[in-house]
Amino acid sequence: MKGIVLAGGNGTRLHPLTLATSKQLLPIYDKPMIYYPISVLMLAHIRDILIISTPDTLPSLQALLGDGSHLGVNFSYVPQPEPRGIAEAFLLGDAHIDGDPCALVLGDNLFHGAGFPDLLRRAREELDGCVMFGYPVSDPERYGIGELDAEGRLISIEEKPALPRSDQAITGLYFYDKQVVDIAREQRPSARGELEITDVNRVYLEQGKANLVPLGRGFTWLDAGTHQSLLEASQYVQILERRQGVRVACLEEIALRMGFIDADACYRRGTEMSQSVYGRYVMDIARSLA
Ligand code: G1P
Repeated sequence: MKGIVLAGGNGTRLHPLTLATSKQLLPIYDKPMIYYPISVLMLAHIRDILIISTPDTLPSLQALLGDGSHLGVNFSYVPQPEPRGIAEAFLLGDAHIDGDPCALVLGDNLFHGAGFPDLLRRAREELDGCVMFGYPVSDPERYGIGELDAEGRLISIEEKPALPRSDQAITGLYFYDKQVVDIAREQRPSARGELEITDVNRVYLEQGKANLVPLGRGFTWLDAGTHQSLLEASQYVQILERRQGVRVACLEEIALRMGFIDADACYRRGTEMSQSVYGRYVMDIARSLA
């Protein structure tokens, strides 16, 4: 399975923070925002990851992430010259996907919760069509919204509905079978000029092959698209990390635990950042799992 992180957009809701840098490079507490969605793909055991961003931002992301070999993964990069919608990722990523199933994650989404790796593994192994993840929100008119029947079957999907039929937001993580590029290609831009991911998902729904997995109440899903939500995401990560002494979305730790790199490689990577507590954490993890 291939992976895509869509880190596009101009981040206009975060101005002036994003006048000279991209949203996905801003910190969420102790690491750049894009670490969080990358960690999700790695936890799903996806090692071929395409990063899509604006032509201006791509060089900085490349400087940050490189070719991925230090994490035992393979990062490649493609520009999205104009923000033409989430589903354009499949057209830009056609050569990368190369006829395989694909998971897409949005570059500003943070997922955290017990049992998440198992959910990801099931989504991947049992994929037949598309799998989305739902999360209850208090402001459903801001999101793609899914409606489930009494048996938990998905029966409708709407993008930012004025009169939402449920409070289940469709989060920015999607698993698709190999049809996805063809389906995306058939879509026409919406009124706001974008290829909507919700339109792609609706095609799967019409095929009877769209599943929405609810991420229950004990789970955390945050997006970091506004000043308020950016700060809250940092506070969430800070509280968790300080209280438990573990790190969320530490890519080196995940690479080691997933068996993508060995303890020596992890330790070496930590030494490159040993002036920071993050780097020393990576070194400690490498030592403890050696
Ligand atoms: C996009 C999708 C929406 C989804 C959301 C999740 O909205 O269009 O369906 O619920 O991401 O973050 P946007 O953030 O682009 O407004």
